[in-house]
Amino acid sequence: MTDDLNKSRRKFLSVATAVTGGIGAAFAAVPFVASFRPSARAQALGVPVEVDIGKLEEGGLLKVEWRGQPVWILRRTPAMLDTLPAIATELADPDSEQVEQQPEYARNAHRSINPEVLVVIGSCTHLGCAPTERFDVGPADLGADWPGGFYCPCHGSKFDLSGRVYKSVPAPLNLKVPPYRYISDSRILIGSDTGAA
Ligand code: FES
Repeated sequence: MTDDLNKSRRKFLSVATAVTGGIGAAFAAVPFVASFRPSARAQALGVPVEVDIGKLEEGGLLKVEWRGQPVWILRRTPAMLDTLPAIATELADPDSEQVEQQPEYARNAHRSINPEVLVVIGSCTHLGCAPTERFDVGPADLGADWPGGFYCPCHGSKFDLSGRVYKSVPAPLNLKVPPYRYISDSRILIGSDTGAA
């Protein structure tokens, strides 16, 4: 698993997949730098953002913006998906019982429509800091049993690769999943789930 995740990490670092929007939406590679933002009026209206994930490789992470919030799209590797059931007992809400944190179609172990593709708002549920993607397995600062996930350096909250929060950290809730739907196999619309698959 370590090799797979290291490989995924390298892929992740090289991802620079184009994102287009129905309104000329935000595009960002890693690290997150919004090169174009929807107008203030469009943001206020919460205009849906169309994202092309066709070139997003396994282990790759896209960061876009919707309603002024960072939205992360992670294409998980099989090894990443394997970690999800394995750490359930360490999580505060492994079954996504806090219904306001995700649409009904994301109330599953992978918290997504397509098990492979996570779509989540990248804002810590403690005080709103931006967690850091930490896909490295067993790093010195997070411990040998760290399987990869998201870490918020502000006060030490930890989330798994589905955005589920660990027990005994400041953040009280899982990362929020926005409404979204697939327009095609390679395009998703964030902010609208009418007709969601
Ligand atoms: S804001 Fe993330 S741990 Fe406090």
